[in-house]
Amino acid sequence: MSVNRVVLGLQWGDEGKGKVIDQLADTTDVVVRCQGGANAGHTVVVGGRKTVLHLLPSGALHDRATCVIGNGVVVDPRALCDEIDALARNGCDITGRLKLSDRAHLVLPTHRALDAATERAKGASKVGTTLRGIGPCYGDKIARTGLRCGDLRAADLPDRLRAHIRAANRVISQLGGRTLDENRTLHETLPACRRAAELVADTASFLHQAAIDGRRFLFEGAQGVMLDVDYGTYPYVTSSNTGLGGVITGSGLSHKSMGEVIGVVKAYTTRVGGGPFPVELLDAQGEALRKRGHEFGATTGRPRRCGWLDLVVVRFACRLNGVDSIALTKLDVLDPEAEIPVCTAYEVDGRRVDTVPACLDELARAKPVYTVLKGWKRSIAGCQRWDDLPAEARAYVEYVERFLGVRVSIIGTGPGREETVVR
Ligand code: GDP
Ligand code: IMO
Ligand code: MG
Repeated sequence: MSVNRVVLGLQWGDEGKGKVIDQLADTTDVVVRCQGGANAGHTVVVGGRKTVLHLLPSGALHDRATCVIGNGVVVDPRALCDEIDALARNGCDITGRLKLSDRAHLVLPTHRALDAATERAKGASKVGTTLRGIGPCYGDKIARTGLRCGDLRAADLPDRLRAHIRAANRVISQLGGRTLDENRTLHETLPACRRAAELVADTASFLHQAAIDGRRFLFEGAQGVMLDVDYGTYPYVTSSNTGLGGVITGSGLSHKSMGEVIGVVKAYTTRVGGGPFPVELLDAQGEALRKRGHEFGATTGRPRRCGWLDLVVVRFACRLNGVDSIALTKLDVLDPEAEIPVCTAYEVDGRRVDTVPACLDELARAKPVYTVLKGWKRSIAGCQRWDDLPAEARAYVEYVERFLGVRVSIIGTGPGREETVVR
């Protein structure tokens, strides 16, 4: 098996990727973010101290790992500088081992304003974005009107920014949003642009050479497969490919460098923002999961919608991405349950459906078909050994493995770095 690893979220994000990546970063030379931007919130808890990373790779807390922000990421220079500074205040200086792709697109205040104006204009059918400017920035990229990190060093950057702000203001006013003051926006943006320029590198060439030198890679997925712009619950998705394809196009390395694909799956399901969610629990049970799992967004603080484990979604995500093994997180959150339903199919208009329908209306009408498993009704918090897990907890894990045909190799029993069973 290759020493390179890809970590992907297989649900609607927030599966616990940050913790898994932090653990694996110990045996990695280069950690690479490949898509998404500061919409991500990846939590790492070390020695009781919590750090949430948005743009910086979650390998940041390991001194030796080089951290790469790849070309597929959309980078807000101000958010990046704030995050670097916050980490430095906690004694972690990352600048000497951080590389920012010259091909990565820039998220500017215009994109944030457009995100807000677009959401407002959509009214009740809004996506519920993180308002970090992600969609409008990827929109500019695809429309071939964006600015890239490689442009940060251009002598005429202020002129290009002015032209960009003027063009964006025309759209913002069409949407009924508040336009940006050109001078003020420039004044607020340029210092961070200058700092970020210092980090810009030809990361594709760096990674190619690192591959030749036999360096070990860890690719850090952001969001989750059900938020993928092609395979997620479109249009209630993010604007990037969140699966293996996004890792390849967003890093500049080929499929030959991908290695083992690790899918991160929460032992139940959550989603933030709008869109269909077949297993959603709108009752006290959902509230109990939210409370016990502390299910509030790491980026926006919004309450996450909660439901039981949806294995139809996870099997779909495994097949799309050739997942080799699963990290099953937050198993401890299910501790007090006497019975634990897992969704193994949907019923749509009286028909049994075994995969995720592409049609949004169909998915909205899908009713989960549950298989009920036995709970273990005692604490597994902090457990580190497979043999120490109660028989019912092992049976839950083995049921998931059998259903997916994929091995569960990591089990989360708490937020801390060590609160893990490795099989
Ligand atoms: P990410 O976006 O996939 O990195 O996940 P988030 O950081 O947004 O959300 C996961 C939350 O669950 C964080 O607060 C983690 O500290 C926490 N967490 C991760 N793994 C476990 C686990 O196994 N058990 C418990 N109780 N919490 C966990
Ligand atoms: P991590 O990496 C959970 C969701 C938003 C919204 C939709 C589109 O922490 O798992 P966007 O701002 O991307 O245009 O919002 O996607 N979303 C996430 N949900 N975890 C994330 O990242 C998310 N990133 C975006 O809530 O529904
Ligand atoms: Mg998150």
